[in-house]
Amino acid sequence: MTGQFITFEGGEGAGKSTQIARLKAHLEKLRIPVLVTREPGGSPGAEVVRNVLLSGKARTLGPDTEAMLFAAARADHMDSVILPALEREEWVLCDRFTDSTRVYQGEAGVDPAFIRELENLAVAGRKPDLTILIDVPPNIGMERVSSRGASEPAANAPDRFEEDDLEVQIRRQALFLDLAKAEPNRIAVVDGSKSADTVEEAVWDIVLDRLGHRLEDATRVVPLIVPGAREG
Ligand code: TYD
Repeated sequence: MTGQFITFEGGEGAGKSTQIARLKAHLEKLRIPVLVTREPGGSPGAEVVRNVLLSGKARTLGPDTEAMLFAAARADHMDSVILPALEREEWVLCDRFTDSTRVYQGEAGVDPAFIRELENLAVAGRKPDLTILIDVPPNIGMERVSSRGASEPAANAPDRFEEDDLEVQIRRQALFLDLAKAEPNRIAVVDGSKSADTVEEAVWDIVLDRLGHRLEDATRVVPLIVPGAREG
C-alpha cells in the first residue's frame, strides 16, 4: 500500500494554501501522516529552479524553456520528495503540479505534445490520485492577490506569472476547466468564490467521496488476535 497523492490547482488567489492546510488538519485528525509540498519547488534542487522561474529571470529564454525548467524541477521533486513519501504511506498534498504546466505554459503557446513529453520525462506516468481544482473568477483572484500584497508588500511582491493581465488569467481559467472536463475521474472542481469554510467542506466531501476507501484502509486498526479464539 502507498499513500495518496492529492494536488491542488487553480488560478492566482484561488486560496489553495488555505485549503491545503485545512485538508491536512482533517487528515491528521484521523492520524494519517501528511506531507505538504508545492511546485515549482518542494525539494532543495527544485527550489533553486523556482527562484529562477518566479523572479522572471528565465522569461527571456521563452515559454518552451520555461516549460523545461518546470519539468526539471518536477523530476527532482518527484524523485526526492513525493515518491519516497508515498512509499512511507504518507498522504502528499501538493500545491500545483502538471496541470499548472498544461495550463500556464499551454496558454503561453507551448505545444501540448511537447508538454506531454516533458510530463512523461518528469513523472513517468505517475498521476495524482485526486486533483482539486479551486475555480475562482480571475477578477476575484487578482483582488485577493493585490490585497495580500498591500498588507505585506516586501514579502508578497507579485511573481512573474501573477503579473499577467486579466485576459491571460481568464484564458487560464478556461483551460483548467477544460482539463477537468477531460479527466472528470481525477479532477474535481470546487467553487472557490465561496467562503473558506464552505470551500473546506466541499473539499472534504470530495475526499470522502473519491478516496473514502483509501481513508478506511489508512485508518484501519489492526484487529486484535486473541490466542485460541479461532479454535473450536
Ligand atoms: P506561487 O507563488 O507558488 O503561487 P500560487 O500561490 O499562485 O500557486 O507561484 C507559482 C507560479 O508558477 C504560479 O503563478 C503558477 C506558475 N506555474 C507555472 O507557470 N507552471 C507550472 O508548472 C507551475 C507548477 C507553476
